Amino acid sequence: MKKYDFIKNKSLNKSALLVVLSLFSYGCASEKTSNTGFMISNHQNNFDRFDIHNLDNSLLAGNLTIFDTTKDAFGHFSPSLTLSQQDTFHHGESFFDQSWLVAPNSNMERDGLGPHFNGQSCATCHINDGRGRPPRDGEQMESMLLRISIPGAGDHNQPLPSHIYGDQLQTFAIPNIKPEAQVSISYEDIKGQYTDGEKYNLKKPIYKIFNFNYGEPEKDLLVSPRVANQMSGMGLLEDIAESDILANADPNDRNRDGISGRPNYVWDVEKQKIAMGRFGWKANQPSIRQQVAGAFSGDIGITSTIFPEESYSDIELSKFTQKTNLSGGEPEINNANLSDVVVYSRNLAIPARRDANNPQVMRGERLFNQLSCNTCHTTTFKSQGQVIHPYTDLLLHDMGRDLEDNRPDFLANGKEWRTAPLWTIGLFQTVSGHTNYLHDGRADNITEAILWHGGEANRSRDEFKKLPKFQRDELIKFLNSL
Ligand code: HEC
Ligand code: HEC
Repeated sequence: MKKYDFIKNKSLNKSALLVVLSLFSYGCASEKTSNTGFMISNHQNNFDRFDIHNLDNSLLAGNLTIFDTTKDAFGHFSPSLTLSQQDTFHHGESFFDQSWLVAPNSNMERDGLGPHFNGQSCATCHINDGRGRPPRDGEQMESMLLRISIPGAGDHNQPLPSHIYGDQLQTFAIPNIKPEAQVSISYEDIKGQYTDGEKYNLKKPIYKIFNFNYGEPEKDLLVSPRVANQMSGMGLLEDIAESDILANADPNDRNRDGISGRPNYVWDVEKQKIAMGRFGWKANQPSIRQQVAGAFSGDIGITSTIFPEESYSDIELSKFTQKTNLSGGEPEINNANLSDVVVYSRNLAIPARRDANNPQVMRGERLFNQLSCNTCHTTTFKSQGQVIHPYTDLLLHDMGRDLEDNRPDFLANGKEWRTAPLWTIGLFQTVSGHTNYLHDGRADNITEAILWHGGEANRSRDEFKKLPKFQRDELIKFLNSL
């Protein structure tokens, strides 16, 4: 007998909704009887979109999958957490969600914002634990940022920071301090056509940085625009065995399928050694812990024991009109609170697929494999004792000139990006309120994301363009079921 118990576990102060779904499947594989009982209040959670007779297709993270199709779908803790771990998770969540305050503040645990920053809280960028997006007309850059550097690389192959502006451009600042600069985006239309004659339009972003407030930067400043990733399933990605990731690497394309794929190797600041990169758009961070501490430092201006230095340069400090009250303590987030945010980030659960057994979706899934999408978007790994389906190999691939950012990041060159995990991508609209895909959010929907694929993915993209419309729709329907 197999038994699944799913409890909707978002903290109740965020949503008054409580759903308890218990589902029992009995008997042999060929004949299953099911018995469901769930209670829903407030709003609808489309449980008819899960086929309980054939649930396995929906379980992207095995028994650690949760069931929610609402805007809270990314905010649940993994069912593997014990009660005391759940407390830690919620404590970490409060530091993820709440805005940091300008120092000095009577709430000393939460002050020290900036002086320069990109967001006041983690949640401003990771919208509902989901994806950030580029600004729309008249908006500032609120859930994405620009990584910057100058040509060359440091001792550990790390990008070299600008001597004034560091390695990330901060477009906000606390009162009395000027932000580093401002950014605007314009778009250039790129027209194309499917084999069946249908036309499409892609828009290529062009970034302009202006009003540098602390002097002219280096002439050859390199810029990499990146939106905030979705947060779900990160612990599962962290726990995939390194040897399983390396098994898919084929740096010299020995099997001659046109697709290579190689790991990034980056610097682990705490361990003081080179480590495989897994997180960030170029697999530029080795662990969730370092990524989280890096975000506190670079994105919010909060120091920690891992990154104890404030992120402004001496040149900037010399130009600040206010030189006191810039710090909220040393470090600004203490170790215990930092660890709790790591527990939160590591344990956000993966929601089940919707409509996984719909015939169109299943035909789309076959097309996904036929077009070799699965060569990079690896469907299956093992992690935390489960069979998981993240649809990424966590490796770097050359994605061609159109997606190039020209900025190396450890071993990743300008054209290389980490294969984006596709689990959860069909819920972005519901959770984060938009459908902007790719590292800089340039694709307005999933179709455009595929059409931007180049380099090693040229053949997959060309095969996609040759499909008749009904098959393109099937593929997209499959991707939206993830
Ligand atoms: C200004 C927007 C912004 C803020 C604020 C922000 N992030 Fe992020 N986050 C990003 C971007 C952009 C990336 C991708 C970074 C890269 O590729 O280098 C990212 C990536 C991540 C990742 C890795 C995701 C993945 O799939 O590899 C984690 C984990 C993360 N952020 C956690 C946090 C935490 C915790 C905070 C608060 C301390 C935070 N972020 C604050 C924009 C933001
Ligand atoms: C050569 C490896 C490779 C192949 C083949 C490939 N992809 Fe990708 N895919 C990537 C990488 C790398 C990214 C991230 C690119 C970026 O953000 O600039 C990506 C991004 C995506 C995204 C956007 C995800 C997000 O979270 O924003 C979608 C959707 C996608 N791929 C679907 C497909 C489909 C469908 C196919 C087959 C037609 C395919 N890919 C083939 C490597 C590949």
